[in-house]
Amino acid sequence: MTQKIVALQATKRYPSKAGMVTALEGFDLTVAEGEFVCLVGPSGCGKSTFLRILAGLEDLTVGEARIVPGDDPRRPLNNVVFQEYAVFPWKTVLDNVAFGLQMRGVGKAERYAVAERWLTKVGLKRFADYYPSQISGGMKQRVSIARALANDPEVLLMDEPLGALDAQTRAVLQEELLRIWEETHKTVLYVTHSIEEAVLLGDRVVLMTAHPGTKKSEFVVDLPRPRDLATTSTPEFAALTGAIWEDLRDEVRRAMEAQA
Ligand SMILES: Nc1ncnc2c1ncn2[C@@H]1O[C@H](COP(=O)(O)OP(=O)(O)OP(=O)(O)O)[C@@H](O)[C@H]1O
Ligand SMILES: [Mg+2]
Repeated sequence: MTQKIVALQATKRYPSKAGMVTALEGFDLTVAEGEFVCLVGPSGCGKSTFLRILAGLEDLTVGEARIVPGDDPRRPLNNVVFQEYAVFPWKTVLDNVAFGLQMRGVGKAERYAVAERWLTKVGLKRFADYYPSQISGGMKQRVSIARALANDPEVLLMDEPLGALDAQTRAVLQEELLRIWEETHKTVLYVTHSIEEAVLLGDRVVLMTAHPGTKKSEFVVDLPRPRDLATTSTPEFAALTGAIWEDLRDEVRRAMEAQA
């Protein structure tokens, strides 16, 4: 199986007034092509740091963390979907989705055709000419997801992409992500605070420890696909989320005490 993400003993330290802060320590992770892996861990355990390192936005202090490129050198290595709606307010919905393609020099007709296709998939075709200020938070998050997918990266990095949304919108977008993943089988690394979301979406859930962030344990999600929200009411789903929560609870307590 082709590995798309490889991290070996990844360690990141930040300078601070009180000395060096270790955000990530000796973190190992491999993600295979087409795999959907969810990262779950207490606040401050280094999840965003790890994604930023993979995205090339920050350097590692020690170790290795990289995305393995495929055969097509024009394909971008990654695209990040952040928790805050990272859309350009001065661009229309269509131009936002076409942005990555524009940056790569794809001609107007082609990039609009690709962008429109993705807007249709996320249910926003009708809003192509709107500006971000004219659409809701959930719709903006759909725009950033469509933009990332339109760019066809080797790996999709998602940092709590649904974290800012209300429960109903979140549930609708979870189903959309499942449907899109069934179509694309993209390699995805997905950060979430929700164990339920991780189990619903992922092939594997990696739990991290607090301070310094490192791998605590790993759970294979063997629930059958295709999945939808009905999956969350099965006994298998309840058993797995329960087992993961058992494992995470002490870690969250420890993290809260350390911050108190
Ligand atoms: N630029 C920075 N400079 C100094 N310290 C940083 C910086 N970025 C992150 N940190 C520290 O590194 C640790 C990990 O932060 P990170 O944002 O990766 O955590 P996280 O797991 O994404 O948390 P959350 O779940 O709250 O988003 C924290 O202790 C944080 O304070
Ligand atoms: Mg974070």
